[in-house]
Amino acid sequence: MLYLDHAAATQLRPEAREAMEPFLGGIFGNPSGIHAESRRARAGIDDARERIAALLGAEHPLDVVFTSGGTESVNLGVKGPVLAGGPAASLVTTAIEHEAVLASAAALERVDRKATVVAVDGLGRVDPGDVALAVDGSTRVVSVMTANNETGVVQPVAKVAAAVRAAGERVLVHTDAVQAALSQAVTLDALDVDAVSVSSHKVGGPKGAGVLVLRPGIDLEPVLHGGGQELGRRSGTPDVAAIVGMAAALEVAAAQRDGLRRLLDSERDTFEERVTRTVPGAAVTGSGVDRLSQHAHLRFPGIDAETLLIRLDGAGLAASAGSACHSGAVRPSHVLRAMGMTEAEARECVRFTFGWTTRVGDGAAAADIVASCAEALL
Ligand SMILES: Cc1ncc(COP(=O)(O)O)c(C=O)c1O
Repeated sequence: MLYLDHAAATQLRPEAREAMEPFLGGIFGNPSGIHAESRRARAGIDDARERIAALLGAEHPLDVVFTSGGTESVNLGVKGPVLAGGPAASLVTTAIEHEAVLASAAALERVDRKATVVAVDGLGRVDPGDVALAVDGSTRVVSVMTANNETGVVQPVAKVAAAVRAAGERVLVHTDAVQAALSQAVTLDALDVDAVSVSSHKVGGPKGAGVLVLRPGIDLEPVLHGGGQELGRRSGTPDVAAIVGMAAALEVAAAQRDGLRRLLDSERDTFEERVTRTVPGAAVTGSGVDRLSQHAHLRFPGIDAETLLIRLDGAGLAASAGSACHSGAVRPSHVLRAMGMTEAEARECVRFTFGWTTRVGDGAAAADIVASCAEALL
């Protein structure tokens, strides 16, 4: 099986599995307790917190908030400061964000907070000037993703941050770095942001863990209320094993990032070049703009993406249409619609995402499978 759906989920890295092992059996205490069993669990969390603080550029380990994944990190990073900012505080975000952000924006609107959604250009890029124009005196959070999960198009987050800070003093910049974290450095300083959300299972860690890393002193209304864990910012007994596995996965990802990026650039480019050469009309989305090394998003005019995906699956290649269809309903992607594609065009697009298990030759092998499956449908 050629697995080209790393943007949906990645295999667990052996280093993460090994790090988790003691916490799946022997070390089982609740990390909030006083006794030795609890202290052993807490030591695992404390160690993971310190390592993740260093990896993502937090000033202090306590600026790292553990969550249940990318969705929860984003909910906390987007809604938390707006809800803590009083009745007039508002959000500015973009039309191509993941549903975690856009549904958070809608939830804020339901409690009478303003949420402004900024459009993108035909290549799926956000213009920092447009974001700055949307900022006003009420804006508390600006959330712009580091790179898009469907197209892989990298957003000018640091430029957005500079532009909006010039426009409004109270503005916090949050970025959803869930997809970018595999192949890019997503520290607070590298992105010049105040808050960054990352998910474990996109970088070779287990599912069900995520992190929101903050600049010091950011006031957040929690999304989950309860026992006051994570300094009151995220209640609930943490999944120690998943957190420890996430720290190990992020560490390996950082250590291998440069080499992996070179491999992915080469395999992805070979793949795109061969597919566009052999399949009539096939076109790369966002061609010519800065994209994540692992993403190839293509439109196959005249071919229904779902039919192609079923054929590819039969031929041993796993890919997907846009974001994973959680509800089973295949909807035309809001990202592609925001870029100006028609619904019919959006239904002709397939996302192929390489990852840490990609090997030399995968790009060419995948292209040959895509070419033969697509040809049969034309
Ligand atoms: C850009 C982006 N943000 C957030 C999420 C949600 O992350 P999780 O699956 O860990 O909840 C995803 C998942 O696909 C994503 O691609």
